[in-house]
Amino acid sequence: MICLGIEGTAHTISVGVVKDLNEKCKVLSNVIKIYKPEQGGIHPREAANHHTKFVADLIKDSVKKANIGFTDIDLVSFSKGPGMGPCLRTAATAARALALSLDKPIMGVNHCVAHLEIGRGTLSDCKDPVLLYVSGANTQIIAFAEGKYRVFGETLDIGIGNCLDKFGRTVGLDFPCGPAIEQFALKWKKYLDLPYSIKGMDIAFSGLLTAAEQYYKSGERLEDICYSIQETTFAALTEVTERAMAHTEKDEVLLGGGVAANKRLREMVQIMAKERKASFFVPSKDLCIDNGAMIAWLGVLMHNSGIRMKVENSFIDQRFRTDMADVTWRD
Ligand code: ATP
Ligand code: FE2
Repeated sequence: MICLGIEGTAHTISVGVVKDLNEKCKVLSNVIKIYKPEQGGIHPREAANHHTKFVADLIKDSVKKANIGFTDIDLVSFSKGPGMGPCLRTAATAARALALSLDKPIMGVNHCVAHLEIGRGTLSDCKDPVLLYVSGANTQIIAFAEGKYRVFGETLDIGIGNCLDKFGRTVGLDFPCGPAIEQFALKWKKYLDLPYSIKGMDIAFSGLLTAAEQYYKSGERLEDICYSIQETTFAALTEVTERAMAHTEKDEVLLGGGVAANKRLREMVQIMAKERKASFFVPSKDLCIDNGAMIAWLGVLMHNSGIRMKVENSFIDQRFRTDMADVTWRD
């Protein structure tokens, strides 16, 4: 089975083509185009206009790069949610048009579950992980338990990526700011105290963001602030992930989302995993960030397990929570 998947929950419009090889995922292509606002945060309608402009070319490009013809596509999938309405609608509309013109089935998939399944699908030995999903808008610790993917901990306010980007914007860094913050942090000299706020299994970042901005205004070195933000937020994320692993008795941890590119975060989670004698996994960067291949792969899993969706029912759902997705393809 070959599936073409279209991702469009937020900044990214991406189209990927995957093939099912004995229940493992072979990525044939994965083309990604990211909308970058000229200034300020993301405007949903402008991001959607960006996606509209590029989606047709990305579809053609992904088919070409996969070295297949349009008639080889067996299934078209798209990100059903969660995400921004205008962006989701653009990706879903493109998927409907393609599915109808090829006369092939369509499948809307949960974006967060796709981040986890692409790890299981592409990394050998990654079978039942706790996912630490760290992106711009999302920060969740997700694992399979009692027939569903459940959220064991999450941010109470903003995503970790947003926290980094907002701080970066305040101090004049280019979006996305995570990579620059990582570089500044390497040149640290002292750790500055920041609020470490874990409530139950959930995390909050906005208090820390305000405190970090105040340090900047009071003239502390940017390098020290960047380092302290990373140390504090990543320690909290690692702590909650470890607690989820202990609670679910799982011995695999998987990273996903754009912030998973950060070497210090990887190192902290890896040390925690090693101490628990657990395995640590992180997909290649293009499969960590928002991408069409993960949407395509989850489409394959759902289709193979018997789920069918009609075009007239292929709605988007801005608030499609992780635990709302029926998991029919594994136990
Ligand atoms: P989602 O809809 O899943 O929230 P998104 O478009 O916000 O998607 P991603 O593409 O997964 O997110 O990730 C983008 C985020 O990753 C940005 O906030 C960016 O600053 C952050 N990021 C990228 N590289 C690094 C890095 N090296 N260190 C820290 N953060 C990083
Ligand atoms: Fe994502």
